Amino acid sequence: MLRPVTRYADDLSYVHHTGFADLARGAARFVVDLIGPERRRVVDLGCGSGIVLRALTDAGHEAIGVDLSPAMLALAKRTAPRARLLQGSLYRVPLPSTDLILAIGEPLNYLEPDARPPALAAFFRKVARALPRGGRFLFDVIVDAPGRPLSRRAWAAGEDWAVLVDTTEDAARTRLTRDVTSFVRRGRRWRRTRELHHVRVLRTVDLRRLLRDAGFAVRVRTSYGEHPLAERRRAFLCTKR
Ligand SMILES: C[S@@+](CC[C@H](N)C(=O)[O-])C[C@H]1O[C@@H](n2cnc3c(N)ncnc32)[C@H](O)[C@@H]1O
Repeated sequence: MLRPVTRYADDLSYVHHTGFADLARGAARFVVDLIGPERRRVVDLGCGSGIVLRALTDAGHEAIGVDLSPAMLALAKRTAPRARLLQGSLYRVPLPSTDLILAIGEPLNYLEPDARPPALAAFFRKVARALPRGGRFLFDVIVDAPGRPLSRRAWAAGEDWAVLVDTTEDAARTRLTRDVTSFVRRGRRWRRTRELHHVRVLRTVDLRRLLRDAGFAVRVRTSYGEHPLAERRRAFLCTKR
């Protein structure tokens, strides 16, 4: 029996960076347009391998990335050498004052490594405190929207990696379990690793209420600019009032 973890260890981090970068690239284009030309400070929570951070520093902004996974941060160090990186949970790291806070690619759905659901109300208040009036908070999450259950088996593969994902959604649509097996070529051998991710499904109506209570005006989107979000994903573009 595997313990539920939010891991992104070496191999899954490599697979995500190599094979699943489209969302981060789409979000990065959207964010750089959203910010405009003036130099800003941006904090990217759950920054993963640093694709958004790199687009930000290339556009002249100050970028700070936070992630739980040391393997993701090692990739981010190479991808975005001019960004500042912090290892830790986005719920616990102190947030510096900043103009924009991001959480791209569902980090807010993940349960803590001990599988506890962290409280979003306190987190949204912390985000609001770090922003000036008019400052922005942008994130995307899996929501309980109309559509088929997300339970399914899927696979993807590249030159030197393959990943099999067995997703189970509970009947009440409150949680997903992703049983992820990845294969990565190491020299002449292939290494197999398995991670079990527990994530919560969030309700748009709850998020709107919590964000409003924390002092945000909220717009819900189904794309980052030209990049459509996957089924049952929504992006929340929040402006501090
Ligand atoms: C699907 S990846 C997305 C990475 C990146 N934002 C992107 O779009 O490519 C989710 C990331 O969230 C991170 N994560 C999950 N829970 C977290 C937490 N509580 N604190 C910090 N990072 C977290 C994971 O380590 C992982 O790097």
